[in-house]
Amino acid sequence: MELLDKLNWRYAAKAMNGTQVPEDKIERILEAARLAPTSSGLQPFEIFVIKNQDIKAQIKPVAWNQSVITDCSHLLVFAAWDTYTADRINHMFDLTNDIRGFKNEGWENYRQMLLNSYPQKDTEENFNHAAKQAYIAFSQAIVAAAFEGVDATPIEGFDPAAVDEILGLREKGLRSAVLLPLGYRKDEADWLVNLKKVRKPMEELVTVIE
Ligand SMILES: Cc1cc2nc3c(=O)[nH]c(=O)nc-3n(C[C@H](O)[C@H](O)[C@H](O)COP(=O)(O)O)c2cc1C
Repeated sequence: MELLDKLNWRYAAKAMNGTQVPEDKIERILEAARLAPTSSGLQPFEIFVIKNQDIKAQIKPVAWNQSVITDCSHLLVFAAWDTYTADRINHMFDLTNDIRGFKNEGWENYRQMLLNSYPQKDTEENFNHAAKQAYIAFSQAIVAAAFEGVDATPIEGFDPAAVDEILGLREKGLRSAVLLPLGYRKDEADWLVNLKKVRKPMEELVTVIE
């Protein structure tokens, strides 16, 4: 199947059947998320992979009781940095230098520029910026899941403060941004499975400027 066929196949499954997704598929979906581009390459988020049924059951009531939370195989929680700190910025710049094996003046100047801006900004503004980066990885995970023939339901319908509490995210300097249950659709219980995909026509979405 071509990528676009797979993207047409995917939909936001409303019911899953509890079948486990093989770990090699989960690893490739997570790798796609890890490879996502982010602003300045900071990757300001972490991904929690919840296999534990008790924890899923705690999250379900604070996620509008959506059945996919407990009927999925693996529940991904994308948690963004609560703010940008000098340590966090330095960690990624140091990692870049380690991996590439050299220091570069332009790159070091860029580091200083970020150090002189992000940590001084309002925490909420920083979290919102970090959450946007988490969404890029989230989106890549959705595409990768479709590529693997795995269903994924993007979920914003939850109480982030409650999920933070259940997973102890605030203590880690993180805040939940978005959820992604991974599993397999349960056709007979899903009102959406046979409905046509609805998208704006291309001309409402795209303007070509020659
Ligand atoms: C960020 C985001 C949050 C969403 N939150 C929910 C949700 O909480 N529950 C749900 O059933 N669907 C949720 N959706 C699914 C959308 O309603 C769905 O993707 C959209 O209607 C397009 O349909 P399709 O994904 O089935 O093609 C969310 C989608 C995105 C991208």
